[in-house]
Amino acid sequence: MTARDLGLPTRVPAPDLPDRVTIWEVGARDGLQNEDTVVPVEVKLEFLDRLADAGLTTLEATSFVHPKWVPQLADAEELLTGLRRRDGVRYPVLVPNERGLDRALAAGVTHVAIFASATETFANRNLNRTLDSQLTMFEPVVTRAVRAGLEVRGYVSMCFGDPWEGSVDPAAVVSVGRRLLDMGCTQLSLGDTIGVATAGHVSALLTAFADAGTPVDRLAVHFHDTYGQALTNTLAALRHGVTTVDSSAGGLGGCPYAESATGNLATEDLVWLLDGLGVETGVDLDKLADTSAWMAEKLGRPSPSRVVRALLG
Ligand code: HMG
Ligand code: MG
Repeated sequence: MTARDLGLPTRVPAPDLPDRVTIWEVGARDGLQNEDTVVPVEVKLEFLDRLADAGLTTLEATSFVHPKWVPQLADAEELLTGLRRRDGVRYPVLVPNERGLDRALAAGVTHVAIFASATETFANRNLNRTLDSQLTMFEPVVTRAVRAGLEVRGYVSMCFGDPWEGSVDPAAVVSVGRRLLDMGCTQLSLGDTIGVATAGHVSALLTAFADAGTPVDRLAVHFHDTYGQALTNTLAALRHGVTTVDSSAGGLGGCPYAESATGNLATEDLVWLLDGLGVETGVDLDKLADTSAWMAEKLGRPSPSRVVRALLG
C-alpha cells in the first residue's frame, strides 16, 4: 500500500493561495543540458511524451544555442522534427540570439525564451557578452519573434546570488527584468540559478518588482534546490500571487556554466505540496514519478527527488 493508495497527502486548502498553478516543466531542457551523457533523441522524445501523459502542459523542450556550448542539446532540430505535438501542450525552446531564433523558426516553434543574467560575470560566462551587450543581442530576437507571432518568455538568471559576485541586489534584477518586459517579453522567469535564495529574499524581490509597477501575473519563479530551499521559496512566491512555477521532473538540472548549480525544484515535490494545499495543477503524480524513475534508469543514477524516492521506494 503506497501513500497515494492511502489518499495522501491530505488536502487542506489555504485561503491565501491561488486555486491553480501552471507548472513550467524544464526537465527536458534544464535537466538534460547538465547531464554528462548525451541522452539519445528517441529517449528525449519519449520523455516529453510521458510528461504530457502525466498532465503537464508546458514542456520546455530544448535550446537552440551553440552546439559547442551545450553539446547535450545539439540535436534540437532532430528533436523538433520528431516531436509528437499534442493539442493543449506548448513546447517552448531557449534561443540566445538571432541565429538561434532562425533555427527555432525553421523548426516550427511557437514559444521561445531568451535568457539574461542579472550579473556581469554570468553574462560573460554563459553568453560571452557583457550585461549591456546581452540586452543588445536579445533586442532583435524579441522584436522578430513577436512580429512572427511567437510568445516570448524572458529568463533572468542569478536573481539572488552569483557564484562569483555573491549576493545580488533586487534593484539590479528589476532593472534587467524591466528591460526584457519593455522589449516585448510576456513573462519573466526569475531564476535562482545556484539555489541560494531564502524565503525573505524571494519576498523582497517580488516586492521590488511590484514597487516598479510589474504585475505579478507577468512573473514566474525558477528555483534550483541546492540548499533545499526551493519548496519554501515557492510557497513564499505563491503567497505573493505568483501562479507559474518552473520545475524539473525528478529534480534533474543545473547549468553547465555555473558550477555550483544543482538540480531544479523537482516537479514531484512541487505537486505533492500543491496537492496538499488543494492547488490544482492537472498533474498525475504517480504517472510523473514513474516517468522520473524511468529517466533515472536511463541516466544510471537515482532521482534526487525526495517524493520520487518515497513513492517508489
Ligand atoms: P559566441 O561564441 O559569442 O558566438 O557565443 P558568436 O555570436 O561570436 O558566433 C560564433 C559562431 O557561432 C558563428 O559561426 C555563429 O553563427 C555561431 P561562424 O560565423 O563563426 O561560423 N552561432 C550559433 N550556431 C548555432 N546556434 C546558435 C549560434 N549562435 C552563434 N544559436 C552564444 C554566444 C550565445 C551563442 C553562446 O554563448 C551560447 O550558445 N551560450 C548558451 C549557454 C547556455 O545554453 N547555457 C544554459 C542555458 S541558461 C540556464 O540554464 C539558466 C536558466 O535555467 C535559468 C536559471 O536557472 O537561472 C534559463
Ligand atoms: Mg535553471
